[in-house]
Amino acid sequence: MDRNIRANMLEGMRRMLPKEVFKIIRRMARSAEEQQLKAYVVGGFVRDLLLGLKNLDVDIVVEGDAIEFAGSAAERLNAALVAHKKFGTATLIFRKPVGGVKFKIDIATARTETYQHPAALPSVRFGSIRDDLYRRDFTINAMAVSMDKKNFGELIDFFGGRRDLERKRIRVLHGKSFIDDPTRIFRAVRFEQRYGFKIDKETVSLITHALKREMFDKVSGERLWGEIELLLKESDPLKAIKRMRTLYGLRSIDPKIRFGSKSENICKNIKGLYGRFKVYFLKKRPLDLWLAYFMAIIDNLSLKETLEACSRFAVKRGDRLRLVSCKKNEKSVMRMLCDKSEVDPSVIYRLLEPLPYETLLYIMAKCGRGLVKVRVKDFLTKYNGMRLKMRGEDLKNIGISPGPEFTKILEKALYAKLDGKLKTKRDEISFAKRSAGVVK
Ligand code: CTP
Repeated sequence: MDRNIRANMLEGMRRMLPKEVFKIIRRMARSAEEQQLKAYVVGGFVRDLLLGLKNLDVDIVVEGDAIEFAGSAAERLNAALVAHKKFGTATLIFRKPVGGVKFKIDIATARTETYQHPAALPSVRFGSIRDDLYRRDFTINAMAVSMDKKNFGELIDFFGGRRDLERKRIRVLHGKSFIDDPTRIFRAVRFEQRYGFKIDKETVSLITHALKREMFDKVSGERLWGEIELLLKESDPLKAIKRMRTLYGLRSIDPKIRFGSKSENICKNIKGLYGRFKVYFLKKRPLDLWLAYFMAIIDNLSLKETLEACSRFAVKRGDRLRLVSCKKNEKSVMRMLCDKSEVDPSVIYRLLEPLPYETLLYIMAKCGRGLVKVRVKDFLTKYNGMRLKMRGEDLKNIGISPGPEFTKILEKALYAKLDGKLKTKRDEISFAKRSAGVVK
């Protein structure tokens, strides 16, 4: 092992990691030594360390009993231990957050995997660190850093991962990788786009081969949906979608998806508009930007086809509701928002208020007109936060008791206020009295 590389790894860990994390890894190394176990930090953490990128997802692999090792490390570090006996893995959850977030470390026993049939869940046997790294997706993810006392910080790289990082290549370890686990196709694109790498030529042919065999059909909808979400959460999802398209067309995801220049434009606009309107959107509730991108991807699908896609991908209920609401409402909302004649604020409010923000962003991106942007911005900044000055108590005082009429009057008063017809609290109360027939 090149001494320089080891020194660089150690230097990188010291530089990149918060002090407390470096200390935790050191102390875990001591636990491993006491139990005469070989322990390694593995996977994405090592990849990002070599790239000089911050990554606090610490995964440790031990050649031995992971749960036993985790137990002693938990005691030493005063961390909570969650053991997953069925999988022979454990998680240490630290009481003190790191950088404001809960910090955890996953620990697993080194294992070897065999796949009984394509895309099946693997059967697992305990093995060496080499076996454990060999079962992984790409060379750049199949490296480890030793936690041994004698050579702490040594890079373990059996498959040329460091060289591939330098060459900026995404390369599988063996020819059956995508047949064993087709979700790795998404991962290849994700890493390629994230780091500005290139998928190796041979790896591209293996992807095409797996897609020709329609390997996605063998993967559960839930897993596919998870991968779609992760892909669209990358910083430039349009690039990633286009790359998926060049690999084999998006029909491998859903045969009905077209993703032509129209969808591409919507994606571009989503990115730009989100940058401009983020502050208004995020004032009230979070927005799942990735779902707005998915709306753009399925732009050409009908409601029925959307529902079919949702079943195929076992889309989570909350996501499905938003996708369906988008398909059901987009046409009427767009028509109204594009209407050049004057539209009362209360009409816009009633139209937009029930819509998920993802739908609003998607519609803005699809219309692309200035008028639509102004109307949505007005909704977000003025109408949506507008409140009546009068309270329920005021209605009770004028003899209106809580019930459907009560709610209706409050609603009508709010619409009148949105349209600029009510200025003061007194105006609102007079309006309520008139509405309830208390006065003419
Ligand atoms: N892995 C794999 N095949 C998969 C998923 C994961 O071989 N289908 C392996 C990879 O070696 C990966 C490790 O499991 O490095 C951990 O997976 P995950 O946490 O999903 O990946 P990261 O590489 O950390 O990716 P990210 O940076 O996106 O979290």
